[in-house]
Order: sequence, then C-alpha cells, then structure tokens
Amino acid sequence: MLIVAYGFRYCAPFRRNLLNYATLLHSTSHLSSRFHYSRDSLSRMERYFSGSGIKKNSAMVGNLQRFGVISSQKVVEVMQTIDRALFVPNGASAYDDSPMGIGYNVTISAPHMHATCLQLLEEHLKPGMHALDVGSGTGYLTACFAVMVGPQGRAVGVEHIPELVSSSIENIQKSEAASYLKEGSLSVHVADGRLGWPEHAPYDAIHVGAAAPEIPGPLIEQLKPGGRLVIPVGNLFQELQVVDKNMDGSITVRSETSVRYVPLTSREAQLRGN
Ligand SMILES: C[S@@+](CC[C@H](N)C(=O)[O-])C[C@H]1O[C@@H](n2cnc3c(N)ncnc32)[C@H](O)[C@@H]1O
Repeated sequence: MLIVAYGFRYCAPFRRNLLNYATLLHSTSHLSSRFHYSRDSLSRMERYFSGSGIKKNSAMVGNLQRFGVISSQKVVEVMQTIDRALFVPNGASAYDDSPMGIGYNVTISAPHMHATCLQLLEEHLKPGMHALDVGSGTGYLTACFAVMVGPQGRAVGVEHIPELVSSSIENIQKSEAASYLKEGSLSVHVADGRLGWPEHAPYDAIHVGAAAPEIPGPLIEQLKPGGRLVIPVGNLFQELQVVDKNMDGSITVRSETSVRYVPLTSREAQLRGN
C-alpha cells in the first residue's frame, strides 16, 4: 500500500473538491469512500492536475494559485524558485499534485501540502528568522525555508533516514538554495526529529512533515515566543494543527484541515512499515 501525505480540505468548497481529487487517487479505499465527487469535476481536475497538463514548475504553481491554494506572492515566488523536479525520484511526474514514494516507506508531500504549510508559516519565515523542518525527507521545504529566511537566517532540516539526508543534500546542491548550504545558513542532520534540533533554537517557524500521535514537548520548547509550529497530529484520522506560542509562553492550538501523513515514529518502526 502506498503511504501518502496529503490534505483533504481547502478554502472554497468547489476548489476543495477539485484539489482533493489527485490526492484521493492515492488514498486507501476506506478513506476515499467517505468522499463523493461528481464525474465532471473529477475529469476536469484530472485535466488540470495530471501529468499530461502540467510540464513545468511555474505551471504547477500557477494552477495552485488559480485553484486558491496559494494566495501569497511570497509563496508563489519561493515555489517558482525551487524546482520540484530536482526533489522527486528520476522519471517521476514532478509536477503532479500528488505525493510520491521516495523509498523507506515514505513520500515527498504533494505540492498543495507544501504550499499550504509555506503559507501557514509565511509570517514566521522572514529574512533573518530561524526555521526547523522535522522529517525533511527530500529537502524540498528546507530549501524553500532557506530561500525565505535568507543568508542571515537559518534553515535546519532533521531527518532520521541517513540515505534521505544524503540525497536531500544532493537535491539542494542542484537547486537555487545551494548557496545557503555552502555558506552554512542551511543544514540537514540525521536525527530523531521528535527531539527537535536544540543547537539553533529557538525557532520562529517549525514544520513537521509526518504525523505525531501528540505534539512533541521538545518542539514546543524550541519554539520562540511569537513563533509558529505546523504539525499533523493523529493516527488514522489526522488534523494539521497550527500551534502559536504567545509572548507569555502560553500556546494556542487550532486545526487547519484534515490530512493524511506518514507517522512521525522511530526509524525501526518506519522501516518495518508500521
Ligand atoms: C511525508 S515525508 C515528508 C518529507 C518532506 N516534507 C518532503 O516533502 O520531502 C515524512 C518524513 O518524515 C521522516 N520521519 C518520520 N519520523 C521521523 C522522526 N522521528 N525523525 C525524523 N524524521 C522522521 C520520514 O523519514 C520522512 O522522510
């Protein structure tokens, strides 16, 4: 069974249905049976988001804008700067709005989930800020973070599969974020992301790319007052939670949307497939 990372819901209902289609193609039958779509909207969506219609990164970003997933110009700019094709396995349809297997029982998240998380974190990814990407996988979002926070900022990826860390570094080296890696404002580390990465804490922005049964304490601790953590939480049923640390250190949590991500777990459990 393909394990996927995608969202179920978006801002406008009609757009939501269209956007959900590509991801539902990869869903498990018991989950997809909970959603109903007209054949018309499904075939329209297929034309827009299947590999046949989208050949270029900018067209993919344009479609995400057209369907209301991206409203921020900054997110448009960074997703146009970092070419997704450099981060997907060779021969994969890079610009499909779909998660894709990258080995080790995990996926690169779908473009609409990357866009959603970038947008939720945008105000916390300004030049000079510190960002942590837990479960950095291919390195795509870590590269986007590095571009957004710039050379005076700090973008840190933490991933527990050493082979993925190596390949993510190769991906980043081919991308527009290569200079940040070379100059040291971007780094990727092999570690258990549930513990965060204290060395460069506190963080203005923390993104978690895998679903935790509950929000890990160290990630809250490593969040700066005024900072934001975006994390999928749950097991079979998951919510993308937005956790804001207030200036007095208290936290406010809200759910953005229902999602389905691979678990934030131990390396052994992931490689066993459970
Ligand atoms: C759905 S993938 C997303 C990867 C990344 N956001 C991307 O789009 O390329 C989730 C990633 O989290 C990693 N992961 C899961 N549990 C982890 C843990 N405890 N510590 C660090 N990484 C973890 C997986 O190996 C996988 O690469």
